[in-house]
Amino acid sequence: MATRGVPTRREILEKCVGLGVVTLASSFSPITMLSAFAEQESRHRKATPPNEIGPFYKKRAPQTASLRASGDPGMPLAVSGQVFSTRGEQLSNAVIEVWQTDHMGHYDLDGYRYRAKLPVDSAAMYKFDSVMPGHYPDRVCQHIHYLVTAPGYKPLVTQLYFATDPVFEGDPDHNFTRDPLIHSIELVRPVVLTGDPKEIQAMVRFELVLEML
Ligand SMILES: [Fe+2]
Repeated sequence: MATRGVPTRREILEKCVGLGVVTLASSFSPITMLSAFAEQESRHRKATPPNEIGPFYKKRAPQTASLRASGDPGMPLAVSGQVFSTRGEQLSNAVIEVWQTDHMGHYDLDGYRYRAKLPVDSAAMYKFDSVMPGHYPDRVCQHIHYLVTAPGYKPLVTQLYFATDPVFEGDPDHNFTRDPLIHSIELVRPVVLTGDPKEIQAMVRFELVLEML
């Protein structure tokens, strides 16, 4: 129902039909067509902003969702999300690679610690266990690198940032540009803390949206 003075999407579409902006050429009723059109529009998702690949990517990372070994220092971190197309389809054949530093800001350049190819399930969900990455001298903010591919879609190279990063001083909306590589606040994700004070864990959700080729 329309709020007083604010037209609903349906009313706008009906107006479009009336003005000839949208023409319905179908054996289905205008109401059916308008409902389907509105639903398609509502499922549309904005593509995830790209971000630089950086110098530390390594091919042939192992397939695993456990980047954190038992006893690893640093705050445990669980990241999860889903892979979509911009049309809202779940891309269950996507392949995700992630790489990050350990909690002290060191990349493993000799081996594959904190590097993984992630399984994606039939609903295009992914998740992995890790630790909160550290800061390192050439970069301002903590981050996790992503390379996401799926047949028929543009490869997505991006980075996940954390709203709790001390660099943002609690106000990422205003301070995200302190890292000159962050061009979009959408890459700075909220952090949920779970567990108890002795066994705290950070949780982050990061959806990935790919554009068609
Ligand atoms: Fe990096």
